[in-house]
Amino acid sequence: MSSPVPTVSQVLTDLVAQAVAAAGHGDLALPVEPASPAGNRQHGDYQSNHAFRMAKPLRSSPRAVAEQLLAHLPPHPAVARAEVAGPGFLNLHLDEAWLCAHLVAQVSDPHGGQPQDGAGRTVVIDYSSPNVAKRMHIGHMRSTIIGSTLDRLYRATGYRVVADNHIGDWGTQFGMLIVAWRRWLDAAAFEADPVGELERLYVAFREAAKEDPALEDLARAETAKLQAGDPENRALWQRFIAISLVEFQGVYDRLGVRFDEVLGESFYNPALPGVVADLLAAGIAEESDGAVVVRFSADHAVKAVRDKILVIRKQDGAFLYGTTDLATLEHRLSTWAPAGIVYVTDGRQQLHFQQVFAAWRAWRTARGLDPDAVALDHTWFGTLRLPEGHMGTRLGNVIRLVDLLDEAVRRARAVVDEKSPQLSETERAAIAEAVGVGAVRYADLSQNPQSDVVFEWDRMLALDGNTAPFLMYSYARCRSLQRKGEVRPEDVDLSALAVSHELEGALVRLLLRTPEVVAAARAGHRPNLLCDHLFETAQAFNRFYFELDVLKAETAALKASRLALVEASARVLGRGMAVLGVPALERM
Ligand code: ARG
Repeated sequence: MSSPVPTVSQVLTDLVAQAVAAAGHGDLALPVEPASPAGNRQHGDYQSNHAFRMAKPLRSSPRAVAEQLLAHLPPHPAVARAEVAGPGFLNLHLDEAWLCAHLVAQVSDPHGGQPQDGAGRTVVIDYSSPNVAKRMHIGHMRSTIIGSTLDRLYRATGYRVVADNHIGDWGTQFGMLIVAWRRWLDAAAFEADPVGELERLYVAFREAAKEDPALEDLARAETAKLQAGDPENRALWQRFIAISLVEFQGVYDRLGVRFDEVLGESFYNPALPGVVADLLAAGIAEESDGAVVVRFSADHAVKAVRDKILVIRKQDGAFLYGTTDLATLEHRLSTWAPAGIVYVTDGRQQLHFQQVFAAWRAWRTARGLDPDAVALDHTWFGTLRLPEGHMGTRLGNVIRLVDLLDEAVRRARAVVDEKSPQLSETERAAIAEAVGVGAVRYADLSQNPQSDVVFEWDRMLALDGNTAPFLMYSYARCRSLQRKGEVRPEDVDLSALAVSHELEGALVRLLLRTPEVVAAARAGHRPNLLCDHLFETAQAFNRFYFELDVLKAETAALKASRLALVEASARVLGRGMAVLGVPALERM
């Protein structure tokens, strides 16, 4: 069932739409621009800019149109007062009793008042996708964190999500690894750090092949045997995959990440000859010096795509990354019929995805199929730099992600020991794990994905900044207050909520806005919007908490109302943190 509780913006947008119709302009057929929160409370709580859009077709001034809308605005319990301001804004001042009732409806709703606009739709999200027999690098960590958050954002808005870990488990590196394994395996090192040893073997092979090029022929022969199904080589290859998946899983468990599918590149291998043959037959691909390439139309919007070709089969018959991605796209479309497919990788793969999307669309068109049947999106992100100091220099860019998480947890432990010495050893260890991992996720998510991020431990673990620990402590504060007052969250009478102080009014308004922000973060693939909003909300909560009495409020009614506000805050913060994958602990 979709959520019956509309957002405040929806309520007001509908109201403006009614005014448009009542003023006799329904035939303009202009979708009504959503009412948005006013930047400044003097301009009301929400503002509608719709008069600016109507003015042109009506050959009138925005101000005159806004006056007309105001005159036809139907009365509604949400709106205490409306006025026209400036060149044509419609400012809406909201009724606080209505706001309170609406917040109660939101937080009592099973979806937290989150509109389920994705209901009935599927989206495939391709994220993490590390390469077997290698360490995950920082790029894979960002993909894992950002991708899993998009995953949660889509689920929160009603989509069915297929989270697909497209691991790199195929390619010529396996022949090299097999040769190196048979010659140079260090059993003890393998025992201690399996993926580290595989990586060392691969590097050792590359070094040795510089001196002895015959090794390359050997590796090619082993790759060919593997591809032909040689049982020994296949067993080794499967072992490499299994070992890597165990290591990856260790990171996923700690980051709270789980996939619905792990269909690696090898899964698509049998389909590749058919893809190339089809593209050739459709006239999308052509032979060029013994290779098969796709050339792009001279009117493609992106110059780099116009100027470059995509090789889908090499002279030696080998298929490439892009070939696999074309097969993958077909498989996803026919298996899940998604409305969209989202790929999360670092910015260096932009051209790759533009090429794959363009080739696939041309191929669809050539087959008489709709190229817009699925929305294709490459959500890319910038680099992440580790802090100076021993982590950064010792481990470089290919640090083990577990080491990074361990370092975060170690530092979080110092904070927890200082803040909460009264808790038991086990409790402090569990809190430090949650804070460390939450801080790593949050430090990544709180930036615009496309900007470069620098990890600064002190900043990301600070208790009073735009950080995971700040949100976590704010949430825990709600719960500790309830414990102190001996109220169980489920017994709180939410209907007692009322606004008697400006700090309460500000908090209520922010809490109410959360579903709008979640929708925007989902639509724009920008988890940082939600981080910023939760930060602002937690700040408003702390101001309320530190300046007003809750348990010692002057009257019983006031106390009941404030307890309701604490519970509403806990629910909204907890839900938002869950979307970000930041644990909400009951006690810290
Ligand atoms: N394995 C690739 C890498 O590590 C990322 C794969 C992304 N997904 C895809 N369908 N190409 O760079």
